[in-house]
Amino acid sequence: MAGGVFAVDGNDRGFGGRVTASVLITCIVAASGGLIFGYDIGISGGVTTMEPFLRKFFPSVLKRMKAADKNIYCVFNSQVLTSFTSSLYIAGLAASLVASRLTRVLGRRATMVLGGCTFFVGAAINGAAVNIAMLILGRILLGFGVGFTNQATPVYLSEMAPSKWRGAFNTGFQFFIGIGVVSANALNYGSARLEWGWRLSLGVAVVPAMIMTLGALLISDTPSSLVERGKLEEAEKSLRRARGVYSDVNPELSALIKSTEAMKAANQEPFKTILERQYRPHLVMSVAIPFFQQLTGINVIAFYAPVLFQSVGFGSNAALMASIILGMVNLGSILVSAGLVDRYGRRVLFLQGGAQMFLCQVAVASVLGTQIGVSGKETLSKDYAVLVLLLICAYAAGFGWSWGPLSWLIPSEIFPLKIRPTGQSISVAVNFATTFVLAQTFLTILCHFKYGIFLFYSGWIAIMTLFIGFFLPETKGVPLESMDTVWENHWYWRRFVKQESSAMTLPNK
Ligand code: BGC
Repeated sequence: MAGGVFAVDGNDRGFGGRVTASVLITCIVAASGGLIFGYDIGISGGVTTMEPFLRKFFPSVLKRMKAADKNIYCVFNSQVLTSFTSSLYIAGLAASLVASRLTRVLGRRATMVLGGCTFFVGAAINGAAVNIAMLILGRILLGFGVGFTNQATPVYLSEMAPSKWRGAFNTGFQFFIGIGVVSANALNYGSARLEWGWRLSLGVAVVPAMIMTLGALLISDTPSSLVERGKLEEAEKSLRRARGVYSDVNPELSALIKSTEAMKAANQEPFKTILERQYRPHLVMSVAIPFFQQLTGINVIAFYAPVLFQSVGFGSNAALMASIILGMVNLGSILVSAGLVDRYGRRVLFLQGGAQMFLCQVAVASVLGTQIGVSGKETLSKDYAVLVLLLICAYAAGFGWSWGPLSWLIPSEIFPLKIRPTGQSISVAVNFATTFVLAQTFLTILCHFKYGIFLFYSGWIAIMTLFIGFFLPETKGVPLESMDTVWENHWYWRRFVKQESSAMTLPNK
């Protein structure tokens, strides 16, 4: 796995290793596409614990909650309530599949703009909602919005970044998701005190939508997408701007044109192409990575952090405060990832992060198991509540430098151009489908498994960490156009891929 160093332009730096101000700004603006996703993740958990919101839209849930048996693991167990949160994911799933064609035909940037506009309208409808129908319609539009942007943004970042720094650039997407989550949590903290606070929280989602849409209007599309759509002159301009006026962009441009020609010659439906045997490793990764990302249990924390902290004995304000702290830890850890991912590679971060998350989940389970047990009738003592918070922070840090950003990076960088948008959309669809099922079942599972839920997720974390250890090749620094080599040199996947590009590889060291 360590071998297979690529060399398209005669050295191991890939094309244009320089980071120019232009490409940096462009990618920061593009990464803000993560804002709307993060904002929604952060806002929905808090809003669904606000009494005025429940009174208006889910009065029966509120009544049941008040009369609920006081087992703390079960207080918030309601299918109707979770369906409000998770309806977005069903819409997002449908949108991400459509988005694959859009990103190919209209380009990455246009798909991001479309996503931003759709999200904007959804947010406005939600903020003004007077009945459940408006609430659901709003959520569906928000779902379409994130479906489009989550598909197009990571691809945009991977295509625009110099290959040597692709990991760090792509991490920007998760960083903006994190900013979205923290701002939403902070807003919820303030608005929870107001009778119409839920309206404010839901409506303010127009702000991140506006920021990312205006941003996307200001940047140019990626050279790959422009070449793919036959806009060669614009492609060259975009490349020159990104790599610096003095760099020789011709080798990179030629490689792009070459892979586009190969793609056009094949002229196949991408959803069919991706099923070919030679793309089996890519397909497995684009399904397994987002599936496993969700089975780290991160959204148990992200959606329900306030509920969870309340459940383990924090008051409702302390619980929101705790989730803000958690969000800040998460942001810091994403920066750590940005600093390390292109130096030490993706695999090290995955393996270390996985081990850390595993240990933290097991520790949380033991604290809850010994202190609350299965009766769930008692709350944690203050010391133990703080210990749980610390463990959850360490867990979130582990996620923040591994499965968080890397689950967006890997699917956006492993596919050849012709099926890149398709691979990314499968990945987003799997992410949303798994999030939906877990969000829908989490509160019930918590109510039945009690603290065992943390053991359930730690088991999955062990499995996915082994999976990475055995099956994920290192992609650090490899130019997108030479990505074939990583599979050709992999002990298991080599049997699936054709060796046509071996002329571009160096022998294993
Ligand atoms: C995941 C989300 C998660 C978020 C947390 C993203 O990468 O896909 O499901 O809620 O990270 O910050």
